Amino acid sequence: MDLTEYVDSKQEEHLNELKELLRIPSVSTKSEHKADIERAARWVAEKLRAAGLENVEVAPTKMHPIVYGESLRAPGKPTVLLYGHYDVQPAEPLDLWTSPAFEPTVRDGNLYGRGTADDKGQVHIHLKALQALRNCSGKLPINVKAMIEGEEEIGSVNLWQFVQQNRGRLQADALLVSDTAMLAKGVPSITYGLRGLNYYQMEIIGPAQDLHSGVFGGAVPNPITILAETIAKLHDRNFRVAIPGFYDDVAPVSREERKALNSLPWKEKDFRRMVGAPALSGEKGFTIVEQLWTRPTLEVNGIWGGYTGEGAKTVIPSKAVAKLSTRLVPQQDPAKIAKLVGRHIQKLLPKTVTHKFEVLSTGKPWVAPYTHPIFQKAIHALETGFGKKAVFIREGGSIPFVTQMYDTFKVPCVLLGFGLPDENAHAPDEHIALENYFAGIKSVALFYEQLATL
Ligand code: BES
Ligand code: MN
Ligand code: MN
Repeated sequence: MDLTEYVDSKQEEHLNELKELLRIPSVSTKSEHKADIERAARWVAEKLRAAGLENVEVAPTKMHPIVYGESLRAPGKPTVLLYGHYDVQPAEPLDLWTSPAFEPTVRDGNLYGRGTADDKGQVHIHLKALQALRNCSGKLPINVKAMIEGEEEIGSVNLWQFVQQNRGRLQADALLVSDTAMLAKGVPSITYGLRGLNYYQMEIIGPAQDLHSGVFGGAVPNPITILAETIAKLHDRNFRVAIPGFYDDVAPVSREERKALNSLPWKEKDFRRMVGAPALSGEKGFTIVEQLWTRPTLEVNGIWGGYTGEGAKTVIPSKAVAKLSTRLVPQQDPAKIAKLVGRHIQKLLPKTVTHKFEVLSTGKPWVAPYTHPIFQKAIHALETGFGKKAVFIREGGSIPFVTQMYDTFKVPCVLLGFGLPDENAHAPDEHIALENYFAGIKSVALFYEQLATL
């Protein structure tokens, strides 16, 4: 049977199988889900075997296992390393889901559930593409190594050690990743750039304990006020990060690249609607696409302190805490930026409080040329699978592993994303468009087939 006919005939079966994986709440950040993580890993291992991969193992790490499998029966043909993740973000706030996060449900042409887009649905696209190739022609046309991890959403803590220990075994001619989004509906996309990510936590400590705000208020420092003041000073009026040296190493983006990015088929109107805020605010002097993909940022991701329960409690809290992150672009150095941020915050603080500043994780940006012939194969496969023109984009999100692989093995990294920017990754009502899921399987199968002629 012809490959695309085969994939079309299996839609129902593929969807039902993906739902099985989505029902496993493999939330990597919560220890209560340890058994679910293990179950998801075993499920992925079983499907790798079904796709014809051999030497499949669920390799333990200090935390969550890495699933590995390979098929090396195409001598003389290229070898690709497929990377993805089976772990997901927490589903909270649960009450904002229209249907429960771990009870996958189809509505209006979309499949809803945690992990549908990020990244179980996209991993499944590859599993089914490989199986389709094997079932149609009895074997895989190229050599494939698959490595699906369970710690991506918590920073791929143990992945790099596994890679170092298995350097020989993981050698490949290219890295394939489907963990990004398409530019827009009907625009299949290849991502050639990701921002890096540093994550921080800061704590401001004032009085030795919480104080009555009537008895003490007026004479003592309030850590929440000081935290708010400090955070407010981290940007200037043009929404630039006001940390000296922050932009020093930002590499200029060439005129041609800016032109290419700014002429992508993309509507500002759709972006505004997606965001849903009364107005946008971004660094002055740059278009939205440039702000999102080519400029570094600093964001406050969480802030707490004092009394936040029902009603009133008159208190001056002893502490206030914030979580911050910076997204980085070439050639910013994560360690250098972490130092700049930490030192600047220290400088801003008055003598009335003490503080703690912690760097929770760091990650380099990634931007790479797409001149290698493999990218033409990828464009062709996407255009055939989707019946639409494909484009090259950058993304604002981060996948630390891609940078590490590219730096270490210097192989082309092909990021074929099948999510959409408004599919609520990390948020309630996460979903994937079924048309992209099915077109994804077709495209990826064609891509693997085409790679035999690389
Ligand atoms: N799949 C995303 C990254 C992504 C999303 C890239 C959209 C491009 C477009 C990944 O699972 C993720 O969420 N990464 C985190 C960083 C990670 C270290 C927790 C991120 O970007 O915040
Ligand atoms: Mn992801
Ligand atoms: Mn994610």
